[in-house]
Amino acid sequence: MLDWAKKWLLFFMAVVLITTGCDRRGPDGEQVDPREKIVIKFSHVVAEDTPKGQAARRFARLVQERTGGRVEVQVFPNSVLYKDGEELDALQKGAVQIIAPTTSKLSSLAPQWQLLDLPYLFENEEQVHRALDGEIGKKLFATLEPHNIHPLAFWDNGFKQITNSKRPLVHPRDFAGLTFRVMINSQVLEEQFRSLGANATQMPFSDVYGALSGNQVDGQENTMSNIYSQRFYQVQPYMTVSNHGYMGYVVLINATFWHSLPPDIREIIEETMAEVTRWEREQAAHINDKNFRQIKESGKVQVHILTAEERAEWQAALEPLYEQFRPVIGAELLEEAFRLKGSRAAGS
Ligand code: LMR
Repeated sequence: MLDWAKKWLLFFMAVVLITTGCDRRGPDGEQVDPREKIVIKFSHVVAEDTPKGQAARRFARLVQERTGGRVEVQVFPNSVLYKDGEELDALQKGAVQIIAPTTSKLSSLAPQWQLLDLPYLFENEEQVHRALDGEIGKKLFATLEPHNIHPLAFWDNGFKQITNSKRPLVHPRDFAGLTFRVMINSQVLEEQFRSLGANATQMPFSDVYGALSGNQVDGQENTMSNIYSQRFYQVQPYMTVSNHGYMGYVVLINATFWHSLPPDIREIIEETMAEVTRWEREQAAHINDKNFRQIKESGKVQVHILTAEERAEWQAALEPLYEQFRPVIGAELLEEAFRLKGSRAAGS
């Protein structure tokens, strides 16, 4: 009798184990057939504790919750899957489904994206958002469709500052002879440093810390969040708060994959992306402010904040870039940007 009961108990436990082992329930209790599960690989190059890193994780969590586990977004930060120069290709081939590169990096596909690299094009985030959420954003998005890329959103990082290992950079003449790392694919960024009498070297983000600490380059430009999270400030004793250029992201999904998704899933992704974008933009401002404080408190960096007069000197030195790149970017996009700024004077 006892043996018989034991056998039944073991049989019952085995059934429970097998069925619960196979049961992939979403947080709302809906059962997900593993064969129907959709996996989205989201690859990016920055640290997790950054505007993009945090937003990618939030997006992943919300999509998983809202699809009851039907969609799993796997986030790969810090270039662990693909680095700059590889991730666009990986997206187009479908090796990953989502990436969120800095807009400059799309210039290899469509040179018009370099509009956003022009120094002093925007004075604040509000102007940036008016451009990206309006006609300029639409026109830039349209350049991607022929490349099997469907754009989902613009995320912020913030305005760039300049760090270097040699001396305080206050006037344009202080740049003479220095070499700066710039982001890949943008000629505007290279020319920006050349206009100031410096040299520029394009380099993937994941190589920058090594190049700075090994003195292969003297300096770089980036947002506070990247300068802090990548520890650039530990090997770059001079920082100029110049706010000379904006650095933001475009969130991209492989177009073939996108169109293969069921309509209800696409709707959840679009709505969640819009919500996360609003959140991300607020976070970006907070994180950059916080990281600036942390950099100052580290005591490792001599910080110079450009005065209005010094800023005017930088603008004057960089102004010729607008005419130089007009044929590359296109008059239409440039004029639209000036119109939004309420001024036709380039860079003013
Ligand atoms: C850089 O290459 O410096 C940045 O684009 C990295 C990033 O994605 O913020």
